[in-house]
Amino acid sequence: SPLPKLFQPLKLRGFEAKNRIWVSPMCMYSAQDGFTTDFHLSHYSQFAIRGAGLVMVEATGVLPEGRISPNCLGIWQDEHVEGLSRIVNHMHKYGTLAGIQIGHGGRKGSTIPLQLYGTRSSLRASKEEGGWPENVYGPSAEAYDDAHYKPKEMTIEQINKVRQAFVDAAIRADKAGFDVLEIHSAHGYLLFEFLSPLSNHRTDEYGGSFENRTRLLLEVVRGIRQVWPHSKPLFLRISSTDWVEGGWTMDDTKVLSKILLNAGVDLIDCSSAGNDPRQKIPLTPGYQVQFAQQVKQEVPGMLSGAVGLISKGEQARQIVEDDLADAIFVGREFLRNPSFVYSVAHELGINVKWNNQYERGRLKTKYSF
Ligand code: FNR
Repeated sequence: SPLPKLFQPLKLRGFEAKNRIWVSPMCMYSAQDGFTTDFHLSHYSQFAIRGAGLVMVEATGVLPEGRISPNCLGIWQDEHVEGLSRIVNHMHKYGTLAGIQIGHGGRKGSTIPLQLYGTRSSLRASKEEGGWPENVYGPSAEAYDDAHYKPKEMTIEQINKVRQAFVDAAIRADKAGFDVLEIHSAHGYLLFEFLSPLSNHRTDEYGGSFENRTRLLLEVVRGIRQVWPHSKPLFLRISSTDWVEGGWTMDDTKVLSKILLNAGVDLIDCSSAGNDPRQKIPLTPGYQVQFAQQVKQEVPGMLSGAVGLISKGEQARQIVEDDLADAIFVGREFLRNPSFVYSVAHELGINVKWNNQYERGRLKTKYSF
């Protein structure tokens, strides 16, 4: 029987992912002033060493106030490039594509790191804790909920500054050697706040109609595509739906995806939610795969990635084999089991090459002894 598509390479412009099992971006809340630490080097490398096709480095702030927490990674100054490039170079030794997700936290910024969740009711990080209470902004002056800061409505000058910050971040990501860039336009962070009618109540050219709400994102994408090398793939993560009546919908995502294809985006990474506490999410295995499937179906030429509660080998195989998505992003299962790729290969009876240093530990498949 032929090799399942899950383990077949995927061409991405001038690059190729060796398989379709990718590490989803996950904030680690372990940076210092945006700089990487040894933790990041070992954390991201472990997935490359153990066979992931692509590793997407966590949401990385394009501005200091664009971080989610004071401990998030940053890429707003040239000095950040060196630490990031060490991670990239190391991952490349294992044949893994290195991606980075760049973003701006918007009104969900200046929050405490995840490790402190549950220790208090407010998620707001104070100035003493490294936060930026007076510099939290978004499309409109409305808080996500009581646990977050109330943002200031962005001026046109601030919008221009953010757009340029995304473009500058892309230049630095290229300098750091990343193969793939992902724009974070999901989960209720700044770019998604502009997209959704639930969080964008502006009356200027950046609010109101679909065209106006998508304006900033499209300006960011077009600006980035001008500086991000033609040979390098550009991904975009989106909340496919708000899961709230009157919010951003999958139909909006489809229309936008067509425009994004023409603007030079290669893959839509289909997530959902995070912008409104009223969301009702039907959490079941692979609950967001339907969105990746619809993007692929309705936007010929656009690749799509599926994410969310994908943790079993047969489940992963089927998603890609049935063309519901071109690749899968796996988050928490990789935290539980960094050898997820090897485990899936074993479950499916596929003989993948293990990293040299670990070869002696390889679980033999029934076909190879
Ligand atoms: C996340 N997620 C996430 N998403 C994103 O786009 N950027 C990010 O930086 C983060 N950070 C993050 C941290 C942690 C600790 C978790 C658990 C999750 C969401 C993540 O990428 C993924 O979409 C979800 O976790 C759903 O996939 P899994 O975990 O069910 O495979």
